[in-house]
Amino acid sequence: MKILVVGGGGREHAIIKKLRENKGIDEIFAVPGNGGMASDATLVPIGAKEIEKIVEFAAANAVDYAVVAPDDPLVLGCVDALEAVGIPCFGPRANAAIIEGSKVFSKNLMKKYGIPTAGYEVFESAEEAYAFVKDAPLPTVIKADGLALGKGVIIAEDRETALDAVKSMMEDGKFGKSGSRIVVEEFLTGPEVSVLAFTDGTVVKPMVSSMDHKRARDNDEGLNTGGMGTIAPNPYYTDAIAEECMRTIFLPTVEAMRAEGREFRGCLYFGLMLTPKGPKVIEYNCRFGDPETQVVLPLLESDLLTVMQACTNGTLADCEVKFSEGAACCVVMASEGYPESYKSGYEIKMTDEVRPHVFVAGAKLDGNKLLTAGGRVLGVTATAPTLGEAIAAAYKNTESVSFENAYKRLDIGKRALMAKKG
Ligand code: AMP
Ligand code: GLY
Repeated sequence: MKILVVGGGGREHAIIKKLRENKGIDEIFAVPGNGGMASDATLVPIGAKEIEKIVEFAAANAVDYAVVAPDDPLVLGCVDALEAVGIPCFGPRANAAIIEGSKVFSKNLMKKYGIPTAGYEVFESAEEAYAFVKDAPLPTVIKADGLALGKGVIIAEDRETALDAVKSMMEDGKFGKSGSRIVVEEFLTGPEVSVLAFTDGTVVKPMVSSMDHKRARDNDEGLNTGGMGTIAPNPYYTDAIAEECMRTIFLPTVEAMRAEGREFRGCLYFGLMLTPKGPKVIEYNCRFGDPETQVVLPLLESDLLTVMQACTNGTLADCEVKFSEGAACCVVMASEGYPESYKSGYEIKMTDEVRPHVFVAGAKLDGNKLLTAGGRVLGVTATAPTLGEAIAAAYKNTESVSFENAYKRLDIGKRALMAKKG
């Protein structure tokens, strides 16, 4: 069997490594993948947004099944295009990927179907947005409508920042068309939880919960990043909260999408905040999270391809999705300076023992050398029976990986561990 995976980051590397456990898979194409995956997949130099070329390649190479992992190709209709030439896919069609592609869509969906989320207003004119933000309670949250590489959210503590955010999104076009409409949202507080869920459009099977660490520096200081590390499971997410989320958020969301004629099949990502008034949705993503996937999939005991195909075929009810009782931690090693400017091109070295635990995000091959080629270079993971052991083992594993200018947070999982100890 031949599988094609669209995307090129640490998340895709984790997906590919998990798929590799299925011995029925003969070949995996990574489009475009990255140099760090070369021993796990055949790299195909086509960009993840070059949908016509992806379809052409998949058809010409008799691909049996495709996994479309990143938001951009999903929102652009990569699944629709592959299905049109008869290639079954894991991932939502464009009409369902809009749940991430438009914050205005997702907020309106939640309002219409009574799914708990922060109160909000939508603005299409800068004048009206200024008038509202001038008197809105602080802090206030300002979000660009469309995809913005995870950077389209401003938490404004003071009036000036709030007004500036409106200006940069609506008048200066900081996020292009993505910012021509904005959402101004109520500021919520509480621990954040990421829950990725498999769904076939009707049945929802949540994966083990996780916790991202988005800020660049220890103690959640510094700039927002694409994620500096993750742990799973998230200790704040108790069985009682999981049951409540299933009842008030997960099933209602999947049912709402079906009712709208936008059946969602694939991985639906729920970014939740456990507020004093109960769990609320902060964001939906139409895909696996990065770097959440790097801790969630290593804990999956069921065969990933089988589960993915059950989502595609609408047979998830009959498919077992089993996770181990253990815990996992992923520590991202980035280039010093990320998410601002940084230097690349340094050789990455790692031992053969640590290699299976490393998911590479930003690297390229130069002959047989692997060189850094991005802000987030790789994620080093470990699984263990307890969270404390998983964190210690992941940090121990980072000692077996080296490159010049490497930077990592030293406190991934610290807060989770404290919560666990109460
Ligand atoms: P997003 O890009 O939607 O993931 O948002 C980035 C981060 O902003 C989230 O992980 C939250 O920490 C924070 N955030 C987003 N919306 C809110 C809100 N309504 N209240 C408080 N924090 C928020
Ligand atoms: N880790 C957050 C995301 O994948 O959007």
